[in-house]
This record gives sequence, C-alpha cells and structure tokens, in this order.
Amino acid sequence: MAIRLGDTAPDFTAETTEGKINFHEWLGDSWGILFSHPKDFTPVCTTELGAFAKAKPEFDKRNTKLIGLSVDSVESHNSWAGDIGETQGSKLNFPLIGDESREVANLYDMIHPNANDTLTVRSVFIVGPDKLVKLILTYPASTGRNVDEVIRVLDSLQLTAEYSVATPVNWTDGNDVIIANTVTDDEAKTRFPKGFKTVKPYLRLTPQPNR
Ligand code: BEZ
Repeated sequence: MAIRLGDTAPDFTAETTEGKINFHEWLGDSWGILFSHPKDFTPVCTTELGAFAKAKPEFDKRNTKLIGLSVDSVESHNSWAGDIGETQGSKLNFPLIGDESREVANLYDMIHPNANDTLTVRSVFIVGPDKLVKLILTYPASTGRNVDEVIRVLDSLQLTAEYSVATPVNWTDGNDVIIANTVTDDEAKTRFPKGFKTVKPYLRLTPQPNR
C-alpha cells in the first residue's frame, strides 16, 4: 500500500556507499530525507546529487540527514561519485543506497510503472525524529528537483512542529506565519508576544516566533 503523510516510514537495512545502514537506527534523533533518483551516470541526476551535496551544511544546521537511492549498485554509485565531484564542484557527502533488488524502492513505492517500469522516479520523503513521514514529493525523470524548495519545506515542518502555526503561500524562513485556528485570540496574546494582525478571524498573522 502506498505510504501516506503521518505513516511510520518503513524501516529497512540496506547496503550503501557508507556501508550497511539500518534506516531507523541511522536516523537516530535526526530528521531525515530519503530521496530516489532514476539512474547513475545520467545528466539531471548528476546535477541534483551535486546540488544536494553542496547544500549539506544547510541540512546539517537543521539536524537533518540525507540518504539517496537508485536501483544501481553501490559499486556504480561509487564510480559515479567521481563524476559528481568533478562536474558539480561538490563531492558526494551522504550515503547512496544500492537497491538493485528494488527492495527499498518497492517499500516506498518509488517505481511508477506507467512512467518507467524499471527505474525509480524522483521521490522525496521527509521523515521526522518520530520516524513519521512529514512530506512526500514525486517528480518525473525529466525534471530536476529544487533544493531550496526542499529546505524551505523542511524549515516550515520544523517550525510547525514546535509552534501552533502554519506557513502561508510562498513563505520563506523569516516571513510572518499564520496562527493555528485552534489557538484563541486570548491564548495568542500570550503565546505570540510579538503581537498578531487579524486579517480575518481565521487568518491571523504573527512574526515568525523563533526569530
Ligand atoms: C537524467 O537524470 O537525466 C535522467 C535519468 C533517467 C531518465 C531520464 C533522464
């Protein structure tokens, strides 16, 4: 059955470019991003993996571990890693799962047969420290993902996990946020001491509380 938001991220043990990893153990208390690419030694994937590697310090700051996957072997990943470093200006610095058996790809429903019956699509799963799935994205092979968008949504998820807020359209870190409708005006006065603006009774904006 397909994985849905709020489900426990299925656990697995797999061979990776950094040795055998048990997913839940490896995550520990961190957030995690498990993402698949269709194939090693292909152009869009090369640019994506380089961009995620370059952005790793941003994920580290957010206590978030990255782990990639395709149905290629660990040996293939290791030899492709040289090309990523050479052409994208950043060395691979997170593990890639070698999923030739498609065990993990099937567990996470990353193969969409009507798109391609053998290769994984570009899936992204963000998993919280509670091991629950917080976000699912699916892109086709022809469209590279946007690393800034992955970081943006991670910022939103981490903020809304801590405060009773939601983030509006096109929100980025530092912008005003929306007070949850479960919070009364009286509660909002104490919970959001920077104040809030009532645009409509159901739309109340407040400065980002952790800034
Ligand atoms: C690519 O990364 O460019 C790619 C991979 C698989 C199929 C098509 C494109």
